[in-house]
Amino acid sequence: MVARTVPVPPFDLVVFGATGDLARRKLIPALYRRLRAGQMPTDARIVGAARSALDDEGFRAQAAEALEEFVPAAEREQNTVDAFLATLSYVAVDAMSDSGWSELRAVLEARTGGDRVRAFYLSVAPRFFAPIAARIAGSGIGGSEGRVVIEKPLGHDLASARELNDELSKHFPECRVYRIDHYLGKETVQNLMALRFANALFEPVWNAQHVDHVQITVAESVGVAGRGGYYDQNGAMRDMVQNHLLQLLCLIAMEPPSQFGPDDVRDEKLKVLRALSMPDIRSEVVRGQYRAANGTASYVDDAGNPDSTTECFVAMKTGIANWRWAGVPFYLRTGKRLRARISEIAVVFKAVPHWIFSGQGGGDAHQNVLAIRVQPDEGITLGMTIKEPGPGGMRLLDADLDMTFAERLGPSISIPDAYERLVMDVIRGDQTLFMRGDEVEAAWAWIDPIIAAWEERGARPSLYDPGSSGPEDALMLMHRDGRRWREIAS
Ligand code: BG6
Repeated sequence: MVARTVPVPPFDLVVFGATGDLARRKLIPALYRRLRAGQMPTDARIVGAARSALDDEGFRAQAAEALEEFVPAAEREQNTVDAFLATLSYVAVDAMSDSGWSELRAVLEARTGGDRVRAFYLSVAPRFFAPIAARIAGSGIGGSEGRVVIEKPLGHDLASARELNDELSKHFPECRVYRIDHYLGKETVQNLMALRFANALFEPVWNAQHVDHVQITVAESVGVAGRGGYYDQNGAMRDMVQNHLLQLLCLIAMEPPSQFGPDDVRDEKLKVLRALSMPDIRSEVVRGQYRAANGTASYVDDAGNPDSTTECFVAMKTGIANWRWAGVPFYLRTGKRLRARISEIAVVFKAVPHWIFSGQGGGDAHQNVLAIRVQPDEGITLGMTIKEPGPGGMRLLDADLDMTFAERLGPSISIPDAYERLVMDVIRGDQTLFMRGDEVEAAWAWIDPIIAAWEERGARPSLYDPGSSGPEDALMLMHRDGRRWREIAS
């Protein structure tokens, strides 16, 4: 059967904050790659909007520099780069005053056409989300179909997230608000849904009867140097757990939706968020900070705040109060400056109910592990127990059925960056991989009491060595339950 991709209609994409870091590092390279892949309609237009007094040529020069910096030379043929730059134009717009809005309107109105999609990507600090949304609506450029795209932080707690949702909803109905969690755009994360809902094999064992526990790890080797100011106000719980880790948990734990439609999927994720159990703050949540070692700075140095009690590492145990998952622990772990950069979800199955090999040198019962490697080396492994070949009894060992995508699908398959997929989904009008407002609020409703309890206790985070797997307490969290974290190894 010939695979079909959903076509992308002609569009105008206005990028507010077009001269900023996210636009340079992610959006411009992502849009370039989509054009290079032949997915961008020939009359697509990208309009940069920011405060800097640039003209079209100045913006194109900045975009060309961004491509040089963030797209490998092998992917930069001159004619493709030129074709991409020709789609760009620029309007100087001030989010907080009337300056530039009529010019932006004129640029957009110069190319109207029946089914042209208009989207506004707010690649700006969150305090500008509501004012820009108001001006888009007020200046009439949003029309009745215009879409708005925002990205975290989507609030700092439940109250501020609600306020943001309320403000946005005055100007854009939910069906036109695209809230990015870039983890949902990662190929392997989408593959998780294919694995679960396109294969009959796993569903019968995807429950408390067969699953011993689930581990979700998002480990990073980098520290927070360079963005300490933002980070120190947030910490790992707000920066990573509230969004990325909870989204991964939702995809692992949700019920099969009746169809792969935006609200079908998001309704199921919402039910998971609402069923999350509250961990015991003293014994089931560990916060950490990396210390200085071998000439590398400590977290507090990187954050520029010697008294900081903000966590850059969290490990925790939670559960999901429903029939499928009652009693199954979900362990979450994320941190900076850990041994390696690895994001992985591991579903650890229960051992067989009766082990017959101990008398034959087979040791103790083993457990099957289904591991979904989100990054790097994207792929899926299924840990199996097999007999070691040769004489000497039933000596058993664990071996992986390994489906590393790059090996299985061939070197010609490139794994697109999350933003490539997500920006094109905005244009297609597909919200499946975007968070709905009620999901964001449900996640905060679970996070807020945990943070409040920390603040009340005033406990300092546990220190850990850079390049380690995190603080000792995090290992103990598992050991106490007779379990172990999987290695953080590249
Ligand atoms: C961002 C966080 O959302 O995700 C960062 O703000 C983090 O602190 C980043 O480093 C991790 O993303 P990725 O795609 O590199 O795993």
